[in-house]
Amino acid sequence: MDTPQAVGGDPLILVSNRGPVQHSRRDGERHSQPGHGGLVTALAGLGSHLDDAVWVCAALSDEDAAVAREHDGAAFEQEGGSGVRVRMLELAAQEQHDFYAVISNPLLWFVQHYLWDLANAPDITRRHVAAFDDGYVPVNARFADAVAEEVEARGARSTVMVQDYHLYLVPERVRARCPEVFLHHFVHIPWPHPDAWRVLPPAMRHAVFNGILGNDIVAFHSRRYARNFLLGCQDVLGLSVDLQELTVDVGGRTVRARAYPISVDPDELAATAASAAVSQHEQRLAARRREHLILRVDRADPSKNILRGFRAFDTLLNDHPELAERVTFLALLQPSRQDVEQYVEYLDRVRELVEDINARHGTDGWRPIDLGLEGDFDEVVAAYKLFDVLVVNPVSDGMNLVAKEAVLLNRRDGVLALSENAGAHEELGEHSVTLHPFDIQQQADAIFTALTMGAEERRRRLAAAAAQVRENDVAKWLRDQLADINQLRAHASRSGGS
Ligand code: F6P
Repeated sequence: MDTPQAVGGDPLILVSNRGPVQHSRRDGERHSQPGHGGLVTALAGLGSHLDDAVWVCAALSDEDAAVAREHDGAAFEQEGGSGVRVRMLELAAQEQHDFYAVISNPLLWFVQHYLWDLANAPDITRRHVAAFDDGYVPVNARFADAVAEEVEARGARSTVMVQDYHLYLVPERVRARCPEVFLHHFVHIPWPHPDAWRVLPPAMRHAVFNGILGNDIVAFHSRRYARNFLLGCQDVLGLSVDLQELTVDVGGRTVRARAYPISVDPDELAATAASAAVSQHEQRLAARRREHLILRVDRADPSKNILRGFRAFDTLLNDHPELAERVTFLALLQPSRQDVEQYVEYLDRVRELVEDINARHGTDGWRPIDLGLEGDFDEVVAAYKLFDVLVVNPVSDGMNLVAKEAVLLNRRDGVLALSENAGAHEELGEHSVTLHPFDIQQQADAIFTALTMGAEERRRRLAAAAAQVRENDVAKWLRDQLADINQLRAHASRSGGS
């Protein structure tokens, strides 16, 4: 991957809830492994810039907390010395629970993915208000104070890159302490239309918008989210916005909303795909496959719309009895956020529905849905090579990197069946079969269209989708952001600002 351009050679401070490394203790020994998730992988692409950078994150395990304590809460080199120094914040257990499992997930996550069933939920109670005031606010303050200390130690020329919805209050507080610093915030999930925010009491939604407006740039995966953000600034805070230039004026400053579609590293994926571990899984899956293989790969998250995807498959089997025993739906799901009640219930419902569909349609030798919950990435990569149709049908999704990974690795001219509400649809929609995430019959029909599409059409679409991802890889995602930061900073120093 091409190395992205430096941030003018100035210090870089990355900030996210989940950091680049996680520690655990097994058999009396400490183990460290890379933090999971697309964000960590994407930012790892900063490569040599990370050598001088510090990454501020939460201590997520007991062992992380032990490591943080051993370094007196200061930044430390990772074991093995790979790049970025890490500063882990040890948080009080109740505070961390309220911050992560009550406010960030599900409250903000559900607002931003349109997941609340508004006639019934959420009931915002004193518990939520307390979780915001005594969890989300103080944890954001802890992050902001740590970032401000790092800026003060490194100089006002630092660039701060904050990630995601856990940390909306950080920029305003850092700005108050370090007015000259450059603050950039990437929101990796959808930004909904302004009315969606009315689920939150006024004090909460004002805090969210005022907090994030401490930034110089607020970045999203698509122009649609950037535009929604500005409309929200207008609606929630009554600010003056420019929808052509994608800017909003606040407190004598101009904040820019920008779109940078995140992507994947094709070389790294190709290397994984060539590994022995992947080829073992490939042989096993290939031996088990029927004539048609439908695949889905997701975190087990309600936003991924897993239940409706299975109901569409159920409908497909009812409508096309000729497919019996000729098709398998392989669903590789990774259990996620099992400390959040809604996620536990959702996974239970997924298991029940799979049992029900398999009981109604299955035969002695044929299980229509093959559900895997191991979250083994080598198995996922093997399955990417083998699918005929990949179902990506989220209710709403910031980007969806599964769609991008899969089209690069597939070897069977597989067809991407992609929700119009995935950020990836802006780039890959024209090469996909579009899914309407709420319409079960439409999804069943679209999957059938994909399964029966002519060979030449399938080949052409897959090649075009793969070329699109290759040309717009994760290095470009980072390069474009750093180029804008450099340009804005150069402009600010010419005009005497920060
Ligand atoms: O999509 C947003 C995101 O924070 C990703 O960066 C990450 O991979 C995913 O959600 C998982 O989140 P969590 O840290 O809650 O497991």
